[in-house]
Amino acid sequence: MRKYPPVTALDAEERTRVVAEIFATSHTRYDFLNHLLSLRRDVGWRRFTVKKMRFRGTRRLLDLATGTADLAIAAALHYPEISVSGVDFSPGMLAVGGEKLARRSLSERVRLFQADALSLPFPDCTFDVAAVAFGMRNIPDKLRALGEMARVTVPGGQVMVLEMTFAPAPAIRGVYRAYLNRILPLLAAPFAANAAAYSYLPDSIMHFPPPEALRDLMREAGIERTRYDALSCGLAYLHVGVTAGGNSGGS
Ligand SMILES: C[S@@+](CC[C@H](N)C(=O)[O-])C[C@H]1O[C@@H](n2cnc3c(N)ncnc32)[C@H](O)[C@@H]1O
Repeated sequence: MRKYPPVTALDAEERTRVVAEIFATSHTRYDFLNHLLSLRRDVGWRRFTVKKMRFRGTRRLLDLATGTADLAIAAALHYPEISVSGVDFSPGMLAVGGEKLARRSLSERVRLFQADALSLPFPDCTFDVAAVAFGMRNIPDKLRALGEMARVTVPGGQVMVLEMTFAPAPAIRGVYRAYLNRILPLLAAPFAANAAAYSYLPDSIMHFPPPEALRDLMREAGIERTRYDALSCGLAYLHVGVTAGGNSGGS
């Protein structure tokens, strides 16, 4: 089976190219495999994230690295008063997302944009909430992406990062490591259009910064009062912080 080089062997440009290729070749089966490989925990993690969102002034949400728009859809259904902008650089992922929005009659309230997370096509202070689900792992320059999220968020608005990293509860560490590195690629192989993507996936999870390091990075990007919750015994983490200059709560 073809394999991508380990993430530690790639510079930022190469890694971005690999990520773009992976999502250009995985979009048709992305939702199915996402639910299968996480035993549908991804749905609950997004729901948890949506419930933490607070809309006050603009009533606008940015869903960064929206992919097939699952977070955008969950938020739009939960908060009927908001509008959502979903951004992703993969046309294939956005096309699947667009079809899902049309099926749910959400195309008016949720707009999708093809753009790079490092250079968002929005003015400063556009959104009450800027969130990213399972996308930060794929962006090499995390500080710049967090800075962009903070820039487009109103003062006191929320910046949220939902992500998988290898920081599980100690009791499940061994099992989780075996699942990620041995079982997951085998489980995905018969269904995946690009099976190599499912060797990259555990590699990217294993090398994502641990929760404390991501919290520090968010602070460095000017995001304040950052805190995080461990989800499903630490298989995923939700980080929430607020941008400087406002009073709204981050929890
Ligand atoms: C694992 S998917 C997550 C999709 C979705 N947020 C979800 O909850 O399932 C990661 C997404 O990040 C996008 N992505 C990666 N790097 C990006 C970048 N620099 N700018 C915009 N999108 C990016 C990919 O195209 C892909 O759709």
